[in-house]
Amino acid sequence: MTDIKSMKLYRHVERIYRELGELGKTIEDPLNVYELAPFDQLHYHGTDALDVALAMLGIDQQQNWLEIGSGLGGPARYLATCSEAHVTALELQPDQHELALDLTARCGLEDRVEHVCGDFLQFEREAGSFDAIVSWLALYHIPERARLLEKCHRLLAPSGCFYTEDLTARGDIDDGQRSLLERDLYAITLRHINADWAEFVRVRLAAYRADRARHLRVHGEAAVTAMTDFYSAVNRHFQSGKLGGIRLCARKLEVAV
Ligand SMILES: C[S@@+](CC[C@H](N)C(=O)[O-])C[C@H]1O[C@@H](n2cnc3c(N)ncnc32)[C@H](O)[C@@H]1O
Repeated sequence: MTDIKSMKLYRHVERIYRELGELGKTIEDPLNVYELAPFDQLHYHGTDALDVALAMLGIDQQQNWLEIGSGLGGPARYLATCSEAHVTALELQPDQHELALDLTARCGLEDRVEHVCGDFLQFEREAGSFDAIVSWLALYHIPERARLLEKCHRLLAPSGCFYTEDLTARGDIDDGQRSLLERDLYAITLRHINADWAEFVRVRLAAYRADRARHLRVHGEAAVTAMTDFYSAVNRHFQSGKLGGIRLCARKLEVAV
């Protein structure tokens, strides 16, 4: 099977330190979630997308939330800052996990965000441990969709909320397209549905290309080539009409028997 690092977004994770350097930060300076937000959100529409989730989940109660596929920890830190929740941030890739730990500590959020490194399919907690399970652009990476959903159901408390934004297939995908999607986006599990992200990824690619000279100065040739390749590939897959997106919010029901 393809390795997750075939997805070029996940190479050169040190990009974020270079961006912080551009802001005049040393590697030890304290940080806050708002100055990190332009760089630590690996999904579409950044913290605006998280505000939609917060409006649905509610922010006033001391709850336990789990984020599956937490990346650099950006969503988990933002959710913890803007609510009373304690967030467990589960991330598969050790380099991203380590980076997330560092950024969370520098934001002074260690008490509010617990980082765990591992595969969700192997993740163990008591049944009913979480009041909400959330995830942005991560579930499509994970095989065994039925097992994943059963696990989420078990981990959710009664009336708990499941909230996700994820990539989807908009129609039938042939073997050639599937293997390109697997290489470029590590797309392991795609379901059919549509959304408006095609425009977002088109504008993102154009903006990145327009600022190429600046990016080369900050990040160097290898990182800029990887990111241009990644943004181009995502744009191509969206414009092909085969790739779409979904936002889903569900609540766990207790069925009387
Ligand atoms: C596109 S990134 C999004 C990160 C974060 N949710 C965000 O929006 O900033 C998806 C993340 O899911 C992680 N991931 C993929 N498969 C996973 C698994 N089985 N268990 C935990 N994390 C996983 C990847 O390593 C990657 O960091």
